[in-house]
Amino acid sequence: MSQRESGYARKDHDLYETPTWVTEVVLPHLPERLSTVWEPALGTNMMGAVLASKFHVIGTDITTGHDFLRLGLMDNADAIITNPPYTLATEFCEHALRLMELVGGVVAMLLRTDFDHAKGRAHLFRDCPAFSKKLVLTKRIMWFQPAPGEKGKSPSFNHAWFIWDWKHDGAPTIAWGP
Ligand SMILES: C[S@@+](CC[C@H](N)C(=O)[O-])C[C@H]1O[C@@H](n2cnc3c(N)ncnc32)[C@H](O)[C@@H]1O
Repeated sequence: MSQRESGYARKDHDLYETPTWVTEVVLPHLPERLSTVWEPALGTNMMGAVLASKFHVIGTDITTGHDFLRLGLMDNADAIITNPPYTLATEFCEHALRLMELVGGVVAMLLRTDFDHAKGRAHLFRDCPAFSKKLVLTKRIMWFQPAPGEKGKSPSFNHAWFIWDWKHDGAPTIAWGP
């Protein structure tokens, strides 16, 4: 995830919890064939709990001794889905894609909506045959709940789900969620 730094102290390991609705939005956009999803930056299981409503979920996190960037394939995972730490988002996408290519699997990452604009990331999007869909969230994500009696700060950034499928054929598509 990403959040404007001004006004917020960055949390350890970029631990920002994904509100339930954000994960629910991506479920219908994932291929039906998936059965086991690996959530490799589990945090407090906010995203994992929603994924578990549809899939068997394997959850790991650096705080429990599992640095995703150093791990190989996990059990029978046929998808890797997460909200990666902002500072390692590109590395998470690259590593997840490498692992899922081995099994013809799927990667879905919640990222800032302009993550695909950078020239330096063309290998993940324009030049990646697995890139299959961008799902734009038209509603901004409130990462922090206001303290009782306080008005919350307005979220600063727009986000989107980016989905890669190594069994995908053809050009990527775009869709809009809430
Ligand atoms: C933005 S939070 C996401 C938490 C959870 N996925 C959610 O959406 O609620 C990022 C998580 O990545 C974890 N993390 C940071 N670096 C990591 C790494 N190298 N490998 C695995 N997890 C990492 C942090 O501990 C944190 O839980």
